[in-house]
Amino acid sequence: MAILEISNLCIEFPTRRGVLSAVEHLSLSIEAGEILGIVGESGAGKSLTGNAIVGLLEPPGHVTGGVILLNGQDITHLSDAEMRKVRGAQIGVIFQDPLTSLDPLYTIGQQLVQTIQTHMDLSRADAKRRAIDLLVEVGIPAPERRFDAYPHEFSGGMRQRVVIALALCCDPCLIIADEPTTALDVSVQAQIIALLKRLAREKGVATMLVTHDMGVIAEAADRVAVIYSGRLAEIGEVRSVIDTPKHPYTKGLMDSIPQIGQNLELLPNIPGAMPRLDSRPDGCAFNPRCEKAKAVCREKMSGLFTAGEKKQMAACWVYAGGDEYA
Ligand SMILES: Nc1ncnc2c1ncn2[C@@H]1O[C@H](COP(=O)(O)OP(=O)(O)O)[C@@H](O)[C@H]1O
Ligand code: SF4
Ligand SMILES: [Mg+2]
Repeated sequence: MAILEISNLCIEFPTRRGVLSAVEHLSLSIEAGEILGIVGESGAGKSLTGNAIVGLLEPPGHVTGGVILLNGQDITHLSDAEMRKVRGAQIGVIFQDPLTSLDPLYTIGQQLVQTIQTHMDLSRADAKRRAIDLLVEVGIPAPERRFDAYPHEFSGGMRQRVVIALALCCDPCLIIADEPTTALDVSVQAQIIALLKRLAREKGVATMLVTHDMGVIAEAADRVAVIYSGRLAEIGEVRSVIDTPKHPYTKGLMDSIPQIGQNLELLPNIPGAMPRLDSRPDGCAFNPRCEKAKAVCREKMSGLFTAGEKKQMAACWVYAGGDEYA
């Protein structure tokens, strides 16, 4: 059974000028021990998707359709209090800026012990022991000494390790990591990615790794989902999607990149830009930029079709008749 299973997720924002539909009918799943990369340009809907899963969508944004299952349990519409419990007990969250997750006024030891004691019935001494173990686990040197240090006394990379330790306090089965390495130097990025990979392999954590950096995906992910304008464009095993991209948008992405650190804002091989939410064209959202666009592409959105081997799928009319007609 998948740890996380999302079906037909829709997220909307009511505004004075009408409803903005930010994420549309998104479906994906993550197995235990698997890292699923979510890649797409800035504004594609990656963070909204992650935030919806952990119940941290900022109003007025809200889920208007679909189902989010965690270990088979429907967590789509839990109350804030119920969601806080699920987050604390089963989901670890890692954001781009470690300082959003850390309180500058408390030592990291105090924050770890407090988080552990909120979710586990442990004495202070046992909680401290667990905190030190977690610091070892995430690779903080001299953890006994660092236990009493404040967040500002750590480098950016070490701070992100502390955030990962915090995320691990409850032994999560799912980690949502939203651009966890974007603010870090390339060498530190590689270390954090190695750590996330080890947690997936050794602890069986299912990981959703959100990034606009294709290099990070290539390095870390088992499978990748490409998001364009709030919709799934393509999904498949990471090597297949990188080596033989099927959706015309993914093809453009792969031609333009992919070194670590390259920003997806600039895609020299694809003219035009991702549409704003209030001016998404009818049919396939990519059609104004697509060389292969046909009449149907301007009228109807494509469903997901099998394209290529190993369960690679693309939301593109080109594959309606199967890969061999593409
Ligand atoms: N509070 C909001 N009101 C209206 N639109 C929003 C709000 N928050 C996000 N959006 C829109 O939703 C889209 C997806 O945002 P996001 O998920 O943050 O993108 P990214 O893929 O860069 O993480 C963007 O176009 C953004 O403008
Ligand atoms: S559905 Fe049509 S417009 Fe969209 S990517 Fe495929 S060919 Fe291009
Ligand atoms: Mg984002």
